[in-house]
Formats: sequence, C-alpha cells, structure tokens
Amino acid sequence: MPPVPPNIADLMQLFVSNTPGLVYQFILQADGTVSFPYLSEGCAALLGLPAAELQQHPERFLELIVPEDRQGYLDAMHASARALTGWNWEGRIWVQEYGDQKWINLRSTPRALPSPPGSVHWEGIMTNITASKLEQLEVTRSRARLAELTAHIERVKEQERTRIAREIHDDLGGNLTAIKMALMMLTQRLPPDEPQLAERAAYVDALVDRTIDAVHRIALDLRPTMLDFGLVAALEWQSGEFEKQNGISCAFSSSGTDIELDVDRATALFRIFQEALTNIAKHARASQVTVRLARQDQHVVLDIADNGVGIAEDDRKKPGSFGLRGMNERARALGGTMTLSDAAGGGTRVCIKIGLDAPPAAIMQPATETGNLSQ
Ligand SMILES: Nc1ncnc2c1ncn2[C@@H]1O[C@H](COP(=O)(O)OP(=O)(O)OP(=O)(O)O)[C@@H](O)[C@H]1O
Ligand SMILES: [Mg+2]
Repeated sequence: MPPVPPNIADLMQLFVSNTPGLVYQFILQADGTVSFPYLSEGCAALLGLPAAELQQHPERFLELIVPEDRQGYLDAMHASARALTGWNWEGRIWVQEYGDQKWINLRSTPRALPSPPGSVHWEGIMTNITASKLEQLEVTRSRARLAELTAHIERVKEQERTRIAREIHDDLGGNLTAIKMALMMLTQRLPPDEPQLAERAAYVDALVDRTIDAVHRIALDLRPTMLDFGLVAALEWQSGEFEKQNGISCAFSSSGTDIELDVDRATALFRIFQEALTNIAKHARASQVTVRLARQDQHVVLDIADNGVGIAEDDRKKPGSFGLRGMNERARALGGTMTLSDAAGGGTRVCIKIGLDAPPAAIMQPATETGNLSQ
C-alpha cells in the first residue's frame, strides 16, 4: 500500500522545523505598530528570546538590534514596504544570553493586504551569519593591512631609490668629472712623439664619457628628476623617451599646466605609467599610444590607450606576471582604481583614477572596486 501523504499543515511544519534559523511572519500597520503573528521554534536559539515573549512584545526585536544598525534596519523595512520589493538586511543583534553580538541575515517578501488597512505583511527567514560575516571582515581587514604594507614598501623603495640615485649622481658623477679634467690636463702634457699614448688617452677619455652617460642614465632610471618639475612634465618627458626608445608614436595631452599631487602620489602614478608603457612595448605590437591626463572635479584621471593586439581575459590573471597587479595595488594604495578595457578600434586601454586629496587612510578602505581586473 502507498504511504499516506501528510496533510499540508503537517508538511509545512516539517519544512519549517528543518529550515535553519527562524521562520517568521511580520506585520507593519499604517500607524507604525508591528507584530509577529508567526515565529518558528528557532526563535529562542537565534535571538535568545522565546517566541511567545517576542510575540507579546514585538518591539523587543528592534531593541535587540545594536544601536548603530537600527536605522539601517528601519530604512530597509520602509523601503521594502514602499516598493513591495524583498526585504534583505544583515546586521548585528545583542544576545544577552551569550553577552555577545551575533550577525543575522533577514530575507522576506512583502505583501500589501487590506487587513488591517494599510498594512504590509512579510513572510521570511532569519539566519545566523556570524561565522561567515567574521570571516568576511577578517578578509577585508587583512586585505587592508596588506595594501597598507604594500604602500609602505613602495614608499620606502622610492626613498631608497632617490637616495641611491643622488649618491650615484653626486659621488660617481663628481669623481668622473674630476677624472675627465685631470685626464685632459695630462693629455696636454704628453710628449708629441708618443702617438700611442695619445691614442690610449683618447680611448680612456671616451670611456669616461660613456661612464658619465651611464651614471646619468642609471640615476635617471632610479629617480626621474623630471618629477621635480611636476607630474605633467614627468609624464610628457617619459612619453617622449618611450617614443625615442621604441619607435612607437606616443601622443601626450593634459587638461592643465600642472596637477597638484604630493611627491609620493605623483611618483606612484608615474611608476604606473612606466609599467603601462613597458607592457605596450613588450606585448602590444602597437604603432600608436595616446595618453591623456585630466583633472575631473576632485580626481586625476590618467588614460593610456594603445592600438595594438589587445589584452585577452586570461592574460590579466597570468600567475607569474606582476606588472598589472602592481599597477592595481598602487592605484588602490592611492585610494583610487585601475580599469582595464578594450581601446576603441582594438588595443588596450588602462585608466587610473585617483582622488586629488584622498587621505592616506584611504588605503585602509576595503578594496571593493578593482575595475575589471579580475584578480
Ligand atoms: N598593452 C597590452 N597589450 C597587450 N597585452 C598586454 C598589454 N599589457 C599587458 N598585456 C598582457 O597581460 C599580461 C600580463 O601583464 P603583466 O604586466 O601583469 O605581466 P608581464 O608584462 O607579462 O610580466 P611582468 O611581471 O614583468 O610585468 C602580459 O603578459 C600580456 O600578455
Ligand atoms: Mg608587465
């Protein structure tokens, strides 16, 4: 004989008792009065309050919510009542029994019913999301700490580069100039009947010249002195150098004569720019690069577009590649964002947007906006 199916009420009870958390019905009347006509047995375990007690004193639910989260709860309820859209809220409640906070998630669906007049009814569930919420908060916190550390390392690295560049330039550069002067003096005193010595001296002189050039190049690489003349000058100079070195046309334009950025932030933006150009030279097979620096309200926007082969989705997440990640981290550390997209007519577009006066604390914000750099 087939088993007798349970009646609908028993079936519902079975579903409810197997649902994690608290199943409930909630009513908001036109005068603001609230009630819980139905609360499942999970009430005491979730809220630390027996269902009967909460039904008798429905206002206790709001009192359970920690003061900082109450307004958000009420706003979500009224928004759901007005638009008759799902009420989905997460927040903290204080559980006296444990002497601790608990994160709960509430999901319910509203219905406007004629009785009582102007009332809205919700049926839904509340669940304990403390564990996942704490994990999420920990991830956000450690992400912020990592960003802070990265920003610190970058800052120290730049300071160290500046120090080494200065020493190379001043010490080595000074000595080389002295050697060149001394060599010139000695050459003038060489006996005229010793042409091999004159040849040797000319060779050493050329060697000193090449070394002076190398010292300048290395010092400039470590710390572009153009940065001392401002961001616009530095980016324009770098665009020209890129064009000369790679034979790829690089058109730079800026919306203003200069953009006021402190030296740390200007340097970071300059390094992002260098990395973007290095990528173009290495990967894009482009013939044209367009760079635009603009001030938009309280932001600086640096837009670099090439007309090359474009960047494939998989290339953005290459495990052993750090250029794009570094650019993204630097942009975040500046309280900004980096977006990678397809340039009009093919190629790749990198857009960096940073606040003009973002406080250093910006790096502590959870990194929510990563553009379309999916890593
Ligand atoms: N402008 C571009 N045009 C085409 N492909 C690009 C461009 N920029 C980056 N790519 C692709 O994205 C990948 C990742 O770039 P990323 O700068 O992160 O690493 P990389 O240049 O390969 O190595 P590195 O760590 O030395 O920078 C590149 O290997 C390349 O395939
Ligand atoms: Mg790279």
